[in-house]
Amino acid sequence: MLAFATQIASAAHDYSKIIIFLQGPLGAGKTTFVRGFLRGLGFDGKVKSPTYTLVEPYEIAERKIFHFDFYRLNHVKELLDIGIEEYFTVHAICLIEWPEKGLPLLPPADLIIEIAMHDTGRDVSLKAHSLLGEKIVKEYLG
Ligand SMILES: Nc1ncnc2c1ncn2[C@@H]1O[C@H](COP(=O)(O)OP(=O)(O)OP(=O)(O)O)[C@@H](O)[C@H]1O
Ligand SMILES: [Mg+2]
Repeated sequence: MLAFATQIASAAHDYSKIIIFLQGPLGAGKTTFVRGFLRGLGFDGKVKSPTYTLVEPYEIAERKIFHFDFYRLNHVKELLDIGIEEYFTVHAICLIEWPEKGLPLLPPADLIIEIAMHDTGRDVSLKAHSLLGEKIVKEYLG
């Protein structure tokens, strides 16, 4: 998962405004993906799950990255309280866990990554949902 995420980070390297939805059950590896993605962009600090804070910001070489986790969201109104629209207007890469819980207030995804759990590993599906998403997938596939 970390290696896959690092490869996606490389494929996304030329772009500064990307929306990535991360889907899959509890413990599937969404946060692990974000950890690998941030490492891929050169971040070597700690990556903690924003389960209680809703969002964790990063700045890596003048690039803004926001890691969201909406699992504990009770009502989409809570997103308005944190000024959610602003996160999506700035040039930033947004990685969103449990996007389904924030849906009416989220922009459409460029990429949707869905992780399925198995005893022996994970199946990952990577889907482009915009032209930008297609460019990143193309770059990833080489
Ligand atoms: N192939 C794999 N990919 C990702 N995680 C794996 C894999 N194999 C084992 N794991 C383990 O599964 C766990 C995944 O946890 P992680 O916090 O990334 O999940 P999550 O999808 O973010 O869950 P949550 O919905 O609770 O936020 C970690 O403990 C990780 O070490
Ligand atoms: Mg998580």
